[in-house]
Amino acid sequence: MSLIRSVVRGCGSYLPPDVLTNEDLARQVDTSDDWIVQRTGIRQRHVASAGEMTSDLALAAARAALADAGMAADEIDLIVLATSTPDNTFPASAVSVQAGLGITRGFAFDVQAVCSGFVYALAVADKFLVSGQHKKALVIGAETMSRILDWTDRTTCVLFGDGAGAVVLEAVTEADAAGRGVLTTHLRSDGRHKGKLFVDGGPSSTGTVGHLRMEGREVFRHAVGMITDVIRDAFAATGESAESIDWFVPHQANRRIIDASAQKLGIAPEKVVVTVDGHGNTSAASIPLALAAARADGRIKRGDLVLLEAMGGGFTWGSALVRW
Ligand code: UT7
Repeated sequence: MSLIRSVVRGCGSYLPPDVLTNEDLARQVDTSDDWIVQRTGIRQRHVASAGEMTSDLALAAARAALADAGMAADEIDLIVLATSTPDNTFPASAVSVQAGLGITRGFAFDVQAVCSGFVYALAVADKFLVSGQHKKALVIGAETMSRILDWTDRTTCVLFGDGAGAVVLEAVTEADAAGRGVLTTHLRSDGRHKGKLFVDGGPSSTGTVGHLRMEGREVFRHAVGMITDVIRDAFAATGESAESIDWFVPHQANRRIIDASAQKLGIAPEKVVVTVDGHGNTSAASIPLALAAARADGRIKRGDLVLLEAMGGGFTWGSALVRW
């Protein structure tokens, strides 16, 4: 058993001010508010303005998380940023956040696991902290999905949004953690499914940025099974259960996937945090955005047991259990 725990000290988020409603989209492609709400639960999404980059969103969320933690930026010695929409092919957007915060020690890097990115980033940061090598980490999910959407493709452009969320983790001794912290993380991937949700461009293939392509029905078909499997792994590793968790904060892709996963696991609907209606699918940003919303309105409190899960392109999927 590890002698160190990664404890959540704060969390924060940022949404670009511009809002795109379903009605706005229905004026651009052959869709309707009714179709989008019934099939996905999405009512609106935020869209970054021209010139507003992923690292700008990430920096705003990081500052909010540091303020919530009551921590100065120069205390941070590790930044892990999950994104599939970096500012540039390189350097990592995480180093722009590092520079924006004025941090000159430790290290910063990006993690790319599409919608599972935040769970991957949390798991990676947790490993560095419990190893004893690093003390205080910013874990960020930030996306400008609007930049890789094909705005003429109604099967994908109605689904995604932009935003960022962040948490601050601190390495503390198990005695000081008093049961709090990241209790377990479980990551999975299966590259046989890589053609079901992908971007049709990139530096070494087309030399272009490309657009998001998805076989939605195929992704949907796999989602609930993969999500519930990896959550069962988290329960088996900790002895926790659908009854003992206080909050279920799933990746926000589709209301129907969220509801079906909760129902299959026996998680009560009132424990489920849902933001997909207001944010759309913000990929790696969706979980920390939902965490920040549930913290801000007083739902998630210190000591609560919070279950996170995500599934996305690759396929990648994962879960985490955190005692807040
Ligand atoms: O976050 C990463 C993981 N991503 C996901 O989890 C997404 C998973 N997939 C989904 O959420 C759903 O599959 C979608 C929301 C993408 C689609 O819902 P669906 O119930 O699977 O619809 P469908 O793809 O089976 O399409 C049903 C019909 C089709 O018409 P026909 O063939 O029945 O005539 C589509 O052409 O709906 C049509 N359609 C639309 N109609 C109006 C597809 N997109 C739209 C649209 N507006 N935007």
